[in-house]
Amino acid sequence: MVLAVFLRSSFVSSLQCTSSNDGSSIVDHNKWLSPGAYTGVVVDCRSRGLTRVPISVTKEVTQLDLGRNTIPAIGANDFVNMTDLRILVLSNSFVNTLANNCFRNLTRLEQLDLNDNNITSLPVGVFSGLLSLRVLTMTGLHVTSYPNLFVSHTPELRVLSMSAVGDATIPAEYGRLPRLEVLDFYEETQGLEKITAAMFDNVRDANISTIAFRHMFALKKIEEGAFSNLPNLRSLIASCNSFMSYHAMITSLAATTNTSVDTVVLDGTKGGLSLLNQADFCSPFWRRVQRLSIKCVQLAGIVFNHPGCLSTLREISLDYNAPMLMKPVIPHFSVAAPNVRTISLSHIGFCTGNFNDAFCSERNCLLDVDDYFPVRPPVLPDSTTLITNDASHCSKEPLVFGGVHFPATLEFLHMIDVGSVSPRIRHGKACIDQLHLRYLNISLNQFTKVLGSGFVLEGVSRLEIVDASNGVLERLAPGYLNHFVNLRFVNLSHNSLGISGSDFRETFSRLLRLEDLNLAHNKLSHVNPRAFEHCISLRRLNLANNELTEIDIYMDRLVALEYIDLSGNRLVTLSHAFMTKLDIQFQKHDLTVDIRYEIFMCNCRSLSFIRWLRVTPVGVTEKETLTCSRGDTSGLRLTQIAIEPIETTCDIDRLLPVVVPVFVGVILVIIGVSLVRYHRWYIKYHLVLCWLRDEVTSANRLENQYDAMVTYFLHAANSRDQQDGVARISRWVCTRLLPRAEDEWGLRLYVGDRDDLGGASKMHNFVRGFQSSDKVVVCLTLEFIDDSDCMNYLATALDSSKPLSKYIFVLFDDIQPTSVPRRLRQLLLPNSPCVMIKCGNIDGDDDGEADLTFWRRMRDALMRDPDQARCRRIVDTMPLLAVQHDV
Ligand SMILES: *[C@@H]1O[C@H](CO)[C@@H](O)[C@H](O)[C@H]1NC(C)=O
Ligand SMILES: *[C@@H]1O[C@H](CO)[C@@H](O)[C@H](O)[C@H]1NC(C)=O
Ligand SMILES: *[C@@H]1O[C@H](CO)[C@@H](O)[C@H](O)[C@H]1NC(C)=O
Ligand SMILES: *[C@@H]1O[C@H](CO)[C@@H](O)[C@H](O)[C@H]1NC(C)=O
Ligand SMILES: *[C@@H]1O[C@H](CO)[C@@H](O)[C@H](O)[C@H]1NC(C)=O
Ligand SMILES: *[C@@H]1O[C@H](CO)[C@@H](O)[C@H](O)[C@H]1NC(C)=O
Ligand SMILES: *[C@@H]1O[C@H](CO)[C@@H](O)[C@H](O)[C@H]1NC(C)=O
Repeated sequence: MVLAVFLRSSFVSSLQCTSSNDGSSIVDHNKWLSPGAYTGVVVDCRSRGLTRVPISVTKEVTQLDLGRNTIPAIGANDFVNMTDLRILVLSNSFVNTLANNCFRNLTRLEQLDLNDNNITSLPVGVFSGLLSLRVLTMTGLHVTSYPNLFVSHTPELRVLSMSAVGDATIPAEYGRLPRLEVLDFYEETQGLEKITAAMFDNVRDANISTIAFRHMFALKKIEEGAFSNLPNLRSLIASCNSFMSYHAMITSLAATTNTSVDTVVLDGTKGGLSLLNQADFCSPFWRRVQRLSIKCVQLAGIVFNHPGCLSTLREISLDYNAPMLMKPVIPHFSVAAPNVRTISLSHIGFCTGNFNDAFCSERNCLLDVDDYFPVRPPVLPDSTTLITNDASHCSKEPLVFGGVHFPATLEFLHMIDVGSVSPRIRHGKACIDQLHLRYLNISLNQFTKVLGSGFVLEGVSRLEIVDASNGVLERLAPGYLNHFVNLRFVNLSHNSLGISGSDFRETFSRLLRLEDLNLAHNKLSHVNPRAFEHCISLRRLNLANNELTEIDIYMDRLVALEYIDLSGNRLVTLSHAFMTKLDIQFQKHDLTVDIRYEIFMCNCRSLSFIRWLRVTPVGVTEKETLTCSRGDTSGLRLTQIAIEPIETTCDIDRLLPVVVPVFVGVILVIIGVSLVRYHRWYIKYHLVLCWLRDEVTSANRLENQYDAMVTYFLHAANSRDQQDGVARISRWVCTRLLPRAEDEWGLRLYVGDRDDLGGASKMHNFVRGFQSSDKVVVCLTLEFIDDSDCMNYLATALDSSKPLSKYIFVLFDDIQPTSVPRRLRQLLLPNSPCVMIKCGNIDGDDDGEADLTFWRRMRDALMRDPDQARCRRIVDTMPLLAVQHDV
């Protein structure tokens, strides 16, 4: 709900106050207000140029901020109708006068802030009616004496903060406020040079547990024993008093007697590159101190001459101190404070504006002494539940940071932003086994680089909380965390773990107690689905702001998982497997996933994701605002986008997987068929060959039954070739070749016309003849060359194992080697192993010189050379004949 509070038209400014009831608050939470004080309607009129209290603030407003305006006078009825007000801020508003009883109806008001106004005096009944007031701050007023007369009006007051009025004695009335716990003096209205015992004379028996003197400009001394005889006082804060030497303070406080003080804050006092002398602490007062904060005093070390004087010290904060320049750099705590449990050594370096902003300028937030010590980590379970069977006992020397040896009792170690300090690591191993360390915060450090891989950290079995965020971790070696068996909260965010390419397959597999793992901002592009499989206690997993393009997480055993943050990655959709796992997980435990700021696409691939999003019981953070983009359009609401148009794109997408294989199949078949077609002769040949081989027994081998096979164009139908109905080439073979070869030379030739088996296929006969002949006589006529069958048979023959030297080409019809197909042409060249003989005369029987030469060559070519025949098996490819075609 946002309700605008309109201002009266007479106001100089037309700026509107803002109103909200979303749980925000105009002040920092503190432990004194009741929890209900922070709820309800909050109206913020800060810096709106108001000159009076707006009347239109409605009754239900619980918090009202009127700070930084110019409201000189507060009238008696200004707040009369704001009866629900719990918190009212009127600071810095140039208030001069407060009407008597002006807060009388604010009976529920718990905190009132009047800091920094022009008020010079307060009317007697100004606080009447403030029956619930718990925190009253009125520093920086222009009063000349301590205001009083509010004891009967504010019975619930716990915290009273004001400026010191010189060294005036604190009014007895303050001591009578039954619940007053904190008496805080911030700055001074009249210079306070020395805190004296007399100042507390009226409040010695009061229940005040904390006294603070902060940000005093004149303060230089504390009288010795000034805080003696304040038996209920527990905490003493003297911070940001830049002219008071912290060393002088330590010695003055040492004289304090009859006291319960156990917490001392000396932050930001005058230092100057200093060493603490531990002897300073060897007094009864210091021996009982349990919590000590000495920030920003340029402390460089502590000298140990009296071990054990801080033996009750449990917690120490030395933040914002000097870099370690000399030795001993930072205290050897195990000697100085052997029982210390919490050490904070953060922000090492000379203290700068950061410290002042955080600890000096703020008047309201440091009223609680706990604010000066490290934030308490989340509640840890009883240590009896720890897994203690870690076998890896430390044999190596203890972990040492910048010369700091830590005592065995240490449980909480804060080392945030320690600058150049780095762990002193020897032999690639370090051990923190002698510590009972449960909490380690090493956020914002550079030294974490070596921790992740370079060396082994042993004896960490008790660690439960580790914050190594904002560092330079680039790698966690797979077994690195195996000994960290009790880890429960791990924050590794803002590192660079992604650049090592590790997918965490083994990294977290031993962390059975891990509840909260933060891996955000790590440049991770891939995470192994099984990375967290064994983390059976995991409740929250943060993978936000990485570079993940897909995600899957095995959750079968993760019974407690309730939150997964995947926001700010590069997911275009969620996988079916992951969505299923989320749904199953939801049946085990309420589950929320954050998938904001992704780059979801509204396409076919995300269709199941879009559908899932609408029906899943899994909690999806800001589900209604999730968007996807399609084409040039982005920002389409995933929960509202129409599904049908996306389905249409799916039809295409769905068809693709069918069409593509079919298409590819057809292409393959076509290629196959053409291959078969192209090689059909070869295939046929081999099929027949196989068949023949099977058929013929070894006793009846085909080989070399004939001396040569004569191949020629057989078809008689060709008119050019015909003479008297008989093909000329047939006639030539029958009448001229055969008589000579068989009768005269005693050879045996295979001639198709004569020797083919009737009824057998052409190929069958070809193979038979070819296989059973030693040589092949090819009668190259024009018809032969033109006939594709003839040429295919020839090509098939040439592809077989018969050496080329076995071929005798007889050229008829003036065929020139240059006019035949390319493959054949090569065989007719002079350097070819084949024999080529030209036959001038196919018809007549002239016994001219040329004819005689032809037949002599023919005989030479056909005759088997007995020696060569014997060698044939060994040198099969050796040319038998080389006849020049010089016919
Ligand atoms: C307070 O409320 C009463 C009754 O609703 C009204 O008459 C009066 O003017 C209000 N006072 C102020 C200062 O707004
Ligand atoms: C304010 O307080 C006075 C007396 O304390 C009372 O008479 C009056 O009714 C109160 N006004 C409201 C609005 O509660
Ligand atoms: C505030 O008080 C100072 C002196 O204390 C005076 O000079 C100044 O004018 C006052 N401012 C207002 C707005 O009253
Ligand atoms: C201090 O507190 C106790 C108990 O809380 C109370 O009985 C006692 O009256 C208080 N003392 C003063 C001076 O208010
Ligand atoms: C301690 O201080 C209180 C308050 O001043 C006083 O009453 C008491 O006598 C003192 N005790 C001792 C032992 O001095
Ligand atoms: C570690 O310190 C940082 C900085 O002070 C703080 O924000 C963070 O919460 C701490 N981590 C844990 C786990 O307490
Ligand atoms: C790291 O994560 C833990 C637990 O999620 C959280 O308490 C802590 O504040 C985080 N640290 C920083 C520096 O944000």
